[in-house]
Amino acid sequence: MSISQQEFNNFKKLIQEKSAIVLDPGKEYLIENRLTPLAKEVGLDSLTELFQKIKSNTELLAKVVDAITTNETLFFRDQHPFETLKKIILPNLIKAREDKKELNIWSSACSAGQEAYSIAIILKENFPQLSNWKVKILCTDISHAMLERVKSGVFSQLEVNRGMPVTLLVKYFRQKGTDWVVSDALKEMLEVRYLNLAAVWPALCQMDLIFLRNVLIYFDLKAKEEILQKIQKNLCPDGCLFLGSTESMLTVNSSFKAVKYDRTVIYTK
Ligand SMILES: C[S@@+](CC[C@H](N)C(=O)[O-])C[C@H]1O[C@@H](n2cnc3c(N)ncnc32)[C@H](O)[C@@H]1O
Repeated sequence: MSISQQEFNNFKKLIQEKSAIVLDPGKEYLIENRLTPLAKEVGLDSLTELFQKIKSNTELLAKVVDAITTNETLFFRDQHPFETLKKIILPNLIKAREDKKELNIWSSACSAGQEAYSIAIILKENFPQLSNWKVKILCTDISHAMLERVKSGVFSQLEVNRGMPVTLLVKYFRQKGTDWVVSDALKEMLEVRYLNLAAVWPALCQMDLIFLRNVLIYFDLKAKEEILQKIQKNLCPDGCLFLGSTESMLTVNSSFKAVKYDRTVIYTK
């Protein structure tokens, strides 16, 4: 199915309204490649028909948004933020929460869960004193398909090859056919929920750490600023925000302060 300019404009506007994801001119191929299989799957002959159908079919609309998301991720992505987390951020935070014995961490565009499981492994490996604490890693995403993947905890050989050290793989995963399944001990640390960063958020507890990595790049300035304002409200006064390694707040109007530890920039209130 080839896409007309009108069809592109229609989808572009709707997708931005529903998810904040901006599709710049030149991204016609992305809509065509990702939505044609979906249109065919539901027995439609054109992208115009798909566009008409999603106006009254919220389930199909969610699948359209889902298909447009880019879910690229890997375990211990960029490494140095996880080193800083292990060596500086968590030791300080754990000291500060000694009385409360509670940690709330949020992987806010979690994709298939590699980021959240990397955090869970760091906690288990390095901080045995947390065994009697209430520790939760909230995993949210706009993609229902990705959330199902986080819950399953199943990763292919190719996926574990991307960032998971063999010693940790054999310790925290079991092999199932050609796949690897995360241990229940790690899965139990995660709470998986749908959350669209660009819509009204459900009530959340105050977070000690928020990972908002490699997602703001898909949004325009207004959406970025609105989301960062909400992030600020949901972060504890001494909490930390992690962005992606190539992202910064230089062009964004926000009151977060950047703090640099070696190669890692962390944002605080
Ligand atoms: C490139 S992945 C980043 C995954 C992980 N945070 C990392 O850095 O490796 C971007 C994720 O953002 C999600 N996403 C895109 N728009 C979103 C929105 N409006 N609300 C919540 N998640 C969104 C996508 O579904 C995708 O899983």
